[in-house]
Amino acid sequence: MSQEGEGARAARRLEGRRLLLGVSGSIAAYKAVELLRRLVAEGAQVQVLMTHAATAFVGPLTFETLSGHPVLHDPLELLPDQRIAHVVAARESDAILVAPATAHWMAAMAHGLAGDLITAACLAAAVPVVVAPAMDAGMYAHPATRANLDRLRAFGYTVVEPATGPLASGLVGEGRLAEPPIIVSAVIAALARPAARSRRDLAGRHVVVTAGGTAEPIDPVRFIGNRSSGRMGIEIARAAMERGARVTLIVGQVSVPLPVGASIVAASSSAEMQRAVLDALPGADALVMAAAVADFRPRHPASTKLTRDVAPVLELEPTEDILAEAARRVQDQALRPVLVGFAAETGSLDRVAEKARRKGVDLLVANDVLEPGSGFGVETNRVTLVASDGTREPWPLLPKRDVADRLLDRVATLLQSRGGRAGAAAAGAAAAGAAAGGAAAAIAGTALEAPVHGPDPQPVAPSRTAEEVSE
Ligand SMILES: Cc1cc2nc3c(=O)[nH]c(=O)nc-3n(C[C@H](O)[C@H](O)[C@H](O)COP(=O)(O)O)c2cc1C
Repeated sequence: MSQEGEGARAARRLEGRRLLLGVSGSIAAYKAVELLRRLVAEGAQVQVLMTHAATAFVGPLTFETLSGHPVLHDPLELLPDQRIAHVVAARESDAILVAPATAHWMAAMAHGLAGDLITAACLAAAVPVVVAPAMDAGMYAHPATRANLDRLRAFGYTVVEPATGPLASGLVGEGRLAEPPIIVSAVIAALARPAARSRRDLAGRHVVVTAGGTAEPIDPVRFIGNRSSGRMGIEIARAAMERGARVTLIVGQVSVPLPVGASIVAASSSAEMQRAVLDALPGADALVMAAAVADFRPRHPASTKLTRDVAPVLELEPTEDILAEAARRVQDQALRPVLVGFAAETGSLDRVAEKARRKGVDLLVANDVLEPGSGFGVETNRVTLVASDGTREPWPLLPKRDVADRLLDRVATLLQSRGGRAGAAAAGAAAAGAAAGGAAAAIAGTALEAPVHGPDPQPVAPSRTAEEVSE
């Protein structure tokens, strides 16, 4: 059956939505044609805006034909009824998608320079904005571009990160426009988000989230780490705050910006992470362990830097099972927190239900690390949610932000079914948070949107939870 045929049978996910599609001057502008086709097939009414440079790559006629509307590209343009085009376009849209977004466009947007119609419309709009960058790998890696992207994220824009692959320059690297289905999913998620936000169903709750990988010291400068970016846990933290929760985010090694507004606790090793979690637990309403905690660590880390004269033989010992210990600590509490773990599996998920029961957790988010689109360094995840009674719920491939929203729907439901203690919990948690200390440094309310980088990752590491896989 043709794609269109399948699309017609399936529910159209953008039915009745009015979108602005901003196309800027990238070699990937031709892919915006396919993107437009998909958005229209999903039921959206699309108004295309182009920068002047974009019109050199693809003719407006193509977009006009597929969208059924004249393309707007002149920021000084007035509509036939003398209204200002970009203001009307912005006011009459439900969301704005900029794809491809050039380095130049992102720089302009980050600084509010309304020299083109897309930037002007974004400034005038109060709707979700989704940005899908495309450019040469060097341009994408440049600190100026990274800073501009961080700024766009801080505006609340969704960034659909580019893929790694062959680029127009002939080089291979990160900078290819994300695939159209991923961008369409991000738009749908962004449109759904205000509904989740308006729920505020975690108001007054204290949610503790762990994110990133741990670093197990070999000597003062080297460690055993893993490839977790921290994105899954950070999306959960961000989503929980938007639903009204007070969030303590315990972070190991991460490579994505931390959310503004969370109490950030830095915990490098698995031992530090355990201390931080147990410190934050009293008064918490939910603990979501999304961090990739190493399974093993060097038994005898050296106190001085190892020299290269003699290659060391590392003896490893198991690390703490933080979630199991947290579950043990709260098992007798009348109003114990909702406990959520992540588990990486390969192939069958048969062991997961048993794992959920054994660890004493309410929900286990399992993902098959061999699945395409799941795991480290990708924006999406395909997971199966396993409840403590063994019920399994496979979810489709989703942006990590959507996984976070769906997971928090379940956490909120579990909290409601346990009875409200929101006010008391908020006060108790505040006191507990103030008392928390230990090796981990609490940076309450930090406005960190810059990536936190640890030392260069060392190769290795058998690590436990698949959440590492959730990246
Ligand atoms: C053939 C060609 C391909 C280009 N591809 C890209 C690209 O993929 N991403 C990008 O950021 N800039 C790209 N550029 C540079 C932009 O077109 C240029 O910075 C332009 O000023 C962007 O304007 P705009 O952001 O207003 O559309 C390309 C330039 C040329 C000549």
